[in-house]
Order: sequence, then structure tokens, then C-alpha cells
Amino acid sequence: MCYNNNGDNMNINNQNNKYTIWLYNLNSREYNLLIKEFPKEHFEVIDIMNDYTKFETLQKQKLLDKPDIVICDMNTEITNELRNILYKSCCGLAKVTTKSIDDPFASIFQLNDEKIEIMVKKNKIYMKQLITKKDFSIQKIIDLCQLSNIGKLQKLMKIEADNIIKTIDLNQELNSRKSISYVSREYLFKLAHTLNEIISLKDNYTAGHCQRVAIYSEALGHALNLSNSQIEDLILAAYLHDIGKIGLPDAVITKTSKLNDLEFNLMKKHVELGSSILPTEQLGYLKEAVRGHHEKYDGTGYPDGLKGENISLFAQILAIADSFDAMTSQRSYNKVKSAEEAFDDLIRHTKPKDIEGGLGMFYNPILVDKFVETISNSKTIMENLHHAKELADQKMLLNEQKEMLQREMEIQNEKNIGGNRYA
Ligand SMILES: [Fe+2]
Ligand SMILES: [Fe+2]
Repeated sequence: MCYNNNGDNMNINNQNNKYTIWLYNLNSREYNLLIKEFPKEHFEVIDIMNDYTKFETLQKQKLLDKPDIVICDMNTEITNELRNILYKSCCGLAKVTTKSIDDPFASIFQLNDEKIEIMVKKNKIYMKQLITKKDFSIQKIIDLCQLSNIGKLQKLMKIEADNIIKTIDLNQELNSRKSISYVSREYLFKLAHTLNEIISLKDNYTAGHCQRVAIYSEALGHALNLSNSQIEDLILAAYLHDIGKIGLPDAVITKTSKLNDLEFNLMKKHVELGSSILPTEQLGYLKEAVRGHHEKYDGTGYPDGLKGENISLFAQILAIADSFDAMTSQRSYNKVKSAEEAFDDLIRHTKPKDIEGGLGMFYNPILVDKFVETISNSKTIMENLHHAKELADQKMLLNEQKEMLQREMEIQNEKNIGGNRYA
């Protein structure tokens, strides 16, 4: 017999706005430990004990909703097969069509006494997070669920059960995501490198900028536990993110003073230009990342004014890395910020303006948190940033002294001319 957390017979059709959580095969100690983490007002916790088949039958009879989160004990006799069934159940929240691959889910697997594995899925990307049991908290899960936009699952739960239960081969799905084969990825890297060289002929700053954005994005990708192939795709997206600048007039992309409105509007076109030159076949998600890297979390960005989780994860990562580099690297018209000042700026841009210290919610707060933590802990990156800042400050000081000297010479010249007049 299956029970919910109140001990009632399970006959639930979740019409409220709670997240549904399945606990599978946990012993009473684990159950009691976990149950405290899920307040009843937000979570419908269902203990499916160890009988998945009964559960499946009830589901087919439309007596149950699909879960948002699955928790099970990997220490017990759970097999890979069952694990896949549980994964499939999560995926099955959406109709199993190509479109459904975009839909998110989260599942949590208790691996052993020490670690808990959490899987979240967003925009075709599976992110695996291992956390220690000590660190396990509901906030951690909510953070991860927010990353995967699990709120959408509530809508999906209204889908008819007949359509829900279909077979899906997770491995097949994962393989289909690997749209770029190893060989063609290597080729793409070479191509991206060549394109970067072309950009450097037009604008040296942009070429270096793309490299640094790739370094920061890669670091964040690792911190988010993206797979190696996903990180390679992310690096590629970073190298290509400003590729559209190739199509803009040199006078605009190399301008050393602030852009006027007309020039800025022209500059904005680089995202559309960039994504339009990438082929749709196989590289759809790269196009999406290139097109979306100037979107803002509150919907005030360009070119599509996308909001929140409608912006692809890659584009959200690029936006943070892009701004961080713009603030910390030398572009003639900006004063270079220290890494710490730039972190502060990013954090303030995760809060709306009406909140103290907020400058507008431009970035995903969870990603910014992770970014600040990751970059500030990277000794090499921080040393490079401090060195670059020192050089930029020295250069700025020299320029100021040069300008001062120039002004003094002009004043002296004027005095001399005046003196000569009366001589
Ligand atoms: Fe850009
Ligand atoms: Fe950029």
C-alpha cells in the first residue's frame, strides 16, 4: 500500500500548486530525515515504498500526478533499470515528443551515506549536482529547481495521463542532444579560432574579449557540473558570441569613445547578425546562445526582450561572463574595475532597483552567486585580473599626466604669444 506523508491512502490528483515529491524505498530513518525538509504547504510528499509497479498502475488510472522530484536510496537494491524508469517518469511529465526534451525536471538520488545526487534538466542540458548529506537542505533543491525552471512542471502536470506514460529511452535522448559529433566539434573549434583571428584583424579588443569570456564561462560550466561535451559547446558559444561584429562598420566596433545612440543601435545588431550566420542544423543551441547573450533576466535586454528562464542557460552564462569582462578589461572609453568591484556590480544587478543596492535584475541570481564564488576562488584568474587592473591603472595615470602636461604647454604657449604681442 502506498501512503502520502499523512499516512492516508494515496488517491491524489494534485490540483493545488504544490511540488510533488516521490520518495522511493527509503528506510524510516532516511524518511524521517528528509520529510522535515519539505513543508506540507509547498510539497506533496508521497512515499512509494518499494513497489513501483503499483504506483505505475495507479498512475495509469489517472489517480496520481507525475512527480517534480524523485528521491530514492541508491544504497538499496535499486537497479539501473529502475533508475531509468524513475528518470523516465520525470521526463514523462511532458509528452514524449521532440518538444518535450526542452522541458525541465529535477530528481534527487541519495547515493550513499555521504552524498546525494541531484539531476536537473534545462534546455536539453542535464546538470548533475553532488551534495553532501550535511549540506542537504530544501533551499539547495529550490535553488536547483529554480535553475531548471521547475515551475513549468505545474502546467505540465495537467497533461492527460494517457499521454504522459510513454516509453522514453533516456540514453537515446541524451545522445540526441549531442548534436555535434566529436570530429565536427574539433572542426568547429578550428573554425571558431579562425573567425576569432578575423575579428582580431578588425578589432583586437573583441578577439581577446571572446577568449576571456570563454575562460569565465568554462569555469562557471564546471561549477554547475555540466558535462565535458556541454562545456565544450559552451566554450564554442563564448568564442562565437560576438561574431556578428564582423558585419559592422570598423568605425563603430573600434570606436574608442562612447557610442552615440545611432552607433549603439547599430552595435546591437551584432547578436542578430551573429546568430544568422550560424546554421540552424545541429547548431540551434549555439544560435540561441549568440542571439540571447544581451538579454536581461528582467526582460529589458535585446533583441527579443526575453525574460528569466526563457533565456537559454548558455545565453545567461555568457551574459554574466561578458559583462564581467567588459568591466574588468581595458576598453578605451571605460575605467577598468577591480574583480571585487565587478563582482559587486554583478550582484547589484541581480536585484530590482526598488530594493536597497539594486541596479535592476539583469542576471540570474543563482548563476551570479556561483560565478562570484568560482572566479574568486580561482587563483590564476584572480592573479591575471589584478595584474590587468594594475596595468590599466598605470596606463590611465600616464594618460592623465600626458594630458596635464599638454594643457600646461598650451597655457604656456598662449602666455608666450600674449607676451610677444606687447613686446
Ligand atoms: Fe555582445
Ligand atoms: Fe561580448
